[in-house]
Amino acid sequence: MDDYNAMSRRAAELVAGELHANPEAVIAVPTGATPQGFYAQLVALHRQGAFDASRLRVFQLDDYVGASADDPHSFYAWIKRDFLDPLGIASAQVTRLRGDRADIWRACHEYDAALRAVGGLDLAVLGLGGNGHIGFNEPPADPTSATHSTALSAETIAAHTRYWGEGIPVPSRAVTCGMANLLAARRQVVLVAGAEKRAILRRMVDGPVSAQVPASWLWRSAGCVIVADAAAWGRAPGVI
Ligand code: PGA
Repeated sequence: MDDYNAMSRRAAELVAGELHANPEAVIAVPTGATPQGFYAQLVALHRQGAFDASRLRVFQLDDYVGASADDPHSFYAWIKRDFLDPLGIASAQVTRLRGDRADIWRACHEYDAALRAVGGLDLAVLGLGGNGHIGFNEPPADPTSATHSTALSAETIAAHTRYWGEGIPVPSRAVTCGMANLLAARRQVVLVAGAEKRAILRRMVDGPVSAQVPASWLWRSAGCVIVADAAAWGRAPGVI
């Protein structure tokens, strides 16, 4: 894609097509800077009647440990603002991944049981971390991992200061939908934008499959599509 807007539009069209084909799809969606344009375009397509969101089933991809739903920094609040509310998705359609529960292990276990009960993810829309993480599956990652809590790497904490603001401490732990669920999704759409993601995108696509680059496993999944802008792709633009 030759620029960020085109990348966002293409990703939104792709996802809208998937949701139109399967209005009861089980989906996970990302937070971050990259998907902002995608959400704006997806909401516009929804307003034009491109798909029906009233029967979608949403599983939260990840969150910080300790952030409650009413904390505007929490990823639940983030997807509520950008995705759930604009598409009219009711809370009954959403399975949260509760980083604010006292018993995180149980929260993860219940989440995986709920996801198993609906047959797993049909669609995972994902960003690509600067360190190759997918969701909060930080390197080194285990492709068989269940939903779990994890310490955030120094690199991820540094990257996330732009979400929290200078001087505000970023939580040091997070919960994430496990790699096993993401790899088993029938379709994964990975959004990548900006020159600062070029090196890690190259490692995802051309490097060896490696625990150090969790996204490298994803790329070997039959359902994986990358939608990248030219700055990230660094080659002729396109959907990969
Ligand atoms: P970003 O985050 O879109 O803000 O770069 C990507 C990610 O960490 O998944």
